Amino acid sequence: MKYLSLTKTNLIFGLKGIEDSVGVFDNFRKIVILTGKTHLKVSENYERIFKFFSSLGKEFLFVSEVTPNPTTDLVDKCFELTKDFEPDVIVAIGGGSVIDTAKLLSVKIVYPNIEVWEYVEGFRIAEKSIPVISIPTTSGTGSEVNRIAVITNTKKIQKRSVKMDVLYPYFSLLIPSMTLTLNKFLTSTTAIDALSHAIESLVSRKSTFITQALAEKSIKIIIENIFRAYNDGSNLEVRENLQYASVLSGIAIDISGVGLMHALEHPITARFPHISHGQGLAILIKKVIEHSFMFSVEKYRIVAEAMGIRTRGNSDFSILHSMLDAFEYLISYLNLNKKLSDLGVEKSDIKYLADDVVSYMTTSLQNSPYTPTKDSIEKIYREIL
Ligand SMILES: [Fe+2]
Repeated sequence: MKYLSLTKTNLIFGLKGIEDSVGVFDNFRKIVILTGKTHLKVSENYERIFKFFSSLGKEFLFVSEVTPNPTTDLVDKCFELTKDFEPDVIVAIGGGSVIDTAKLLSVKIVYPNIEVWEYVEGFRIAEKSIPVISIPTTSGTGSEVNRIAVITNTKKIQKRSVKMDVLYPYFSLLIPSMTLTLNKFLTSTTAIDALSHAIESLVSRKSTFITQALAEKSIKIIIENIFRAYNDGSNLEVRENLQYASVLSGIAIDISGVGLMHALEHPITARFPHISHGQGLAILIKKVIEHSFMFSVEKYRIVAEAMGIRTRGNSDFSILHSMLDAFEYLISYLNLNKKLSDLGVEKSDIKYLADDVVSYMTTSLQNSPYTPTKDSIEKIYREIL
């Protein structure tokens, strides 16, 4: 017998604008609105959001401090900026970095004397947090509907995820128009993130019939919409479809976890935080599939079918090569066809990256169809250098 509980986040979709969500804030008095440092500020959404929260007649405080690859120091800084205000809800408007920071801030507010890294290392489990309402402005993280937060500790040079029930957002408001202003780079890198979540959860040793269905659908939606979103970011229907894909794979990883791509990616962006998570995954995706395909042929056949590759009557070898060709085309089309060395990683860094994978990405490694040795991890890194 197996027990399965799907996301505890209340999902509201089909929203035309933030104005449609007025009832969601009825029970709150003091609202912190957490955003990134730049994206929202330069988009026309900012004025609209400011107007909306002004119209609620409640106290609110904008904290626009979040940067990509957020750190424990950033969570502490946000706590310092908000503690005197004593919020009873945090509205996270942004991508994964903003939502993850909001989640950890929501715990820090309840337990101010506990370092958030203690949860990451598994020494503690928080039992309470203040509610977070996620309003994603990208379609990739999945954090808007799951209990996972990813955070970097700059002293330890580790980027890890933490999973606790109190990290489920209370509400997730899907407003496709909020993603219209995403540029091509953010559109493509976040879609690759969602696609990686779907593939890794599907081939995960912890995949179930439910997560497999979610992941399959997510892959289909991404492949059918990513080219159009990249070419014409103003198509609202396409943007909405990608939001759904992010939600589906976000729920899938909540149950089945991520795998080898994320296991190898986190150490890269922990040591080289100027690299975006999705760009790191785009560099890894083909090699990881090439190395792991033979350990999970049946599940990779499902991935291939979801991508539109005909598998019936075709050999495993030809399916693998069709998949690799498809990824080559996709990654090149999205202009993410890079090597690690293009982004500042050197040969001498590989040993440390592989050390990191085996020392702290163990959960993701264990989810993977096979658990590579440190030597074979170094080999994968060398092949993408
Ligand atoms: Fe991810």
